[in-house]
Amino acid sequence: MSDAPAPGPPLVLEAVVLTLPSAAGPVEILRGVDLRVAAGERVAVTGPSGCGKSSLIAVAAGLERPTAGRVSLFGKDLARLDEDARARLRRGRVSLVFQAFHLLPNMTALENVAAPLEIARRRGAAGLAGEWLDRVGLSARARHYPHQLSGGEQQRVALARALAPRPALLFADEPTGNLDAANAAMVAELMFDLVRDCGAALVLVTHDPALAARADRRAAMSDGHMVQGA
Ligand SMILES: Nc1ncnc2c1ncn2[C@@H]1O[C@H](COP(=O)(O)OP(=O)(O)OP(=O)(O)O)[C@@H](O)[C@H]1O
Ligand SMILES: [Mg+2]
Repeated sequence: MSDAPAPGPPLVLEAVVLTLPSAAGPVEILRGVDLRVAAGERVAVTGPSGCGKSSLIAVAAGLERPTAGRVSLFGKDLARLDEDARARLRRGRVSLVFQAFHLLPNMTALENVAAPLEIARRRGAAGLAGEWLDRVGLSARARHYPHQLSGGEQQRVALARALAPRPALLFADEPTGNLDAANAAMVAELMFDLVRDCGAALVLVTHDPALAARADRRAAMSDGHMVQGA
C-alpha cells in the first residue's frame, strides 16, 4: 500500500524553469511552465519536437530537479523532500510509460508486472500481476521475455506494469509512438480504459491529435512555454 494518504492535487507545476548545461553553454529547456492536474483528470500535452514535453515529464515526475519554480505531487513540494522521501511519495502512486517500452529484458512479462508490486510490498504480487496480464489480453505470454513479444505486446505489458499498483497519476510519453496504427489504437483504448478504472490522473504527451482529443484537456507547449491550457 502507499505509505500515507495523498490529499493534495496529483500534480502542480508553478513557474518551472529547467536549464541544462551543454557544450554551447546553458540551454533553457523549460522557461516558466505552469500546469495543474486534478485528481482523475486526463491532460494531453502537445507541441512540436524539442519544445520540452519529455523534459516536463522528467521534472514533473521528480526525475529531474527544476532550476527554478515549484513541483508538487499530491500537495507535497518535491524540493522539500530528500531523495528517499520523494521515492516514497511516488511509490505505488506515480507510474510512467514511455515510447520505447522500457521493460526489463531479463525478466518475463509476469515478472515485469510483478516487480513494482513487490517493491511496493503488495501481498500476492505474482497473482495480481497475472490478473493484470489477463486484463491486457496477454495471459498466454506470461512466461515470455520482452524480446519474444511484439512492440504492441510489450507496450501492453508496460501498461499492466504501470497500472497494477493502481497509481493516482500516470505519465505517458508518446506511448503509441513506436506502434503501427492497429496496435496504437489498441494500446490507446486499453490505456484510457485502465486509467478510468483506476481513477488515475493522466499526463499524456502525444503528437497524435486523435489521441489528444480523448483527454479531458489539452495543454499546448512551444519553445519551453505552455501556450495553451495550463
Ligand atoms: N540533457 C540535456 N542537455 C541539453 N539539452 C537537452 C537535454 N535534454 C534535452 N535537451 C534539449 O531540450 C529541448 C527539449 O527536449 P525534450 O526532449 O523535452 O523535447 P520534446 O518536446 O519531448 O521533443 P520530442 O517531441 O522530439 O520528443 C530540446 O531542444 C533538447 O535538445
Ligand atoms: Mg519527447
